[in-house]
Amino acid sequence: MKKVITFGTFDVFHIGHVHILERAREYGDYLIVGVSSDALNRSKKGRNPIYDQASRKKIIESLSCVNEVFFEESLELKRNYIEQYDADVLVMGDDWVGRFDEHRDQCEVVYLPRTPSISTTEIIEVVRTQEP
Ligand code: CTP
Repeated sequence: MKKVITFGTFDVFHIGHVHILERAREYGDYLIVGVSSDALNRSKKGRNPIYDQASRKKIIESLSCVNEVFFEESLELKRNYIEQYDADVLVMGDDWVGRFDEHRDQCEVVYLPRTPSISTTEIIEVVRTQEP
């Protein structure tokens, strides 16, 4: 069985998230997703996500293309997670291109193009600035 692993926050779930997860799954037979914890987000972006980690995990678990979900507690632990979950392929969006090449000794590393014109940050901004 070929196992694929990917990581992300997946806050305010949107179509770009569906696209990357469906395409990631096509690289193997079993898709594992590391959903970043609330604490990791606070340290990375200085704020809590809109949806808490339990909700974000549950949403990702409900997708038919996803087989297993865990919390990513630290960016420094990628090497451990890839090993622990015995991943054959690491898939990341191309906003991260080159950043994970150090894992090529562990598994195949694939960067997929992002879906244009949508992001969690943009959705939050649109909602925030909308007239009542
Ligand atoms: N992603 C994508 N296309 C988009 C947005 C995200 O393919 N339009 C991918 C990212 O490349 C990543 C995964 O979805 O591999 C999770 O991304 P995440 O950072 O959670 O979503 P964003 O919408 O980029 O969130 P933010 O705006 O907060 O960075």
